[in-house]
Amino acid sequence: MEDISSGFYRRISTGVKGLDDLIGGGLIPGRVYVVTGPPGSGKTTLGIQFLVEGAKNWEKGVYISLVDDPKTIIQDMFHYKFNLLSFIRSKKIVIYDLSSTITAGDKKPSWGEILDEIKMIIVNENAKRVVIDSFTPLELMVRDPENKRRELVRLIKLLSLMGITAFVITEMMESDKYTDDYYVASGVIVMHHFMRNFQMVRGIQILKMRGTAHDSNMKKVRFTENGIEVYNEAPW
Ligand SMILES: Nc1ncnc2c1ncn2[C@@H]1O[C@H](COP(=O)(O)OP(=O)(O)O)[C@@H](O)[C@H]1O
Ligand SMILES: [Mg+2]
Repeated sequence: MEDISSGFYRRISTGVKGLDDLIGGGLIPGRVYVVTGPPGSGKTTLGIQFLVEGAKNWEKGVYISLVDDPKTIIQDMFHYKFNLLSFIRSKKIVIYDLSSTITAGDKKPSWGEILDEIKMIIVNENAKRVVIDSFTPLELMVRDPENKRRELVRLIKLLSLMGITAFVITEMMESDKYTDDYYVASGVIVMHHFMRNFQMVRGIQILKMRGTAHDSNMKKVRFTENGIEVYNEAPW
């Protein structure tokens, strides 16, 4: 539990250069953060950097993939200097492929069953940092797609009770702006990737961060050999 007597929170690093400075020194541990944005905006990379940072400090990290094949993620991360594979080999980071479980049987699972599975993994692994990537595209694969919003809120509340620090990644669709999960999460980080003056621009925005004074303007993002880096300036 957080020590609330002092009025000051302990902070843990996101693992992303420049990002901690935008959020009062880092994330408040034990809370759940939603990371959202369009495809290719850097959500998965951000999630992996967050786990690598934990693994460097012996915090067990669990990445639960609901959509992508973990092999693809590991391959994509080869381009960066941080050595994801070495942390996987030493079991400081464990990647779970729920995508194959979800699509394997002849019967589609319900959201409830997927959430139970997520909970079991986190408890069994004694994880400190968790990334769930990503929730939204599952709609077509579950028995009860109409329950998506409700179950996403339930997942965030469940993770909050588990005392872990978690990133719940969702794919942002235009029609999805300001959804229920934004209200129950402790923070909302939006990754941007859009066209401006015929050039694609990358940005990051702290839409919400409880317990933290922060600037919610969009900031510049660059992909470097160390992964994503954030600059405290406009992205153009
Ligand atoms: N070295 C790089 N330089 C510029 N862009 C890169 C680099 N490496 C990856 N990317 C971009 O990052 C994207 C992948 O980011 P990813 O974290 O998978 O996004 P998301 O999970 O939001 O879909 C790629 O589509 C590519 O556009
Ligand atoms: Mg992704």
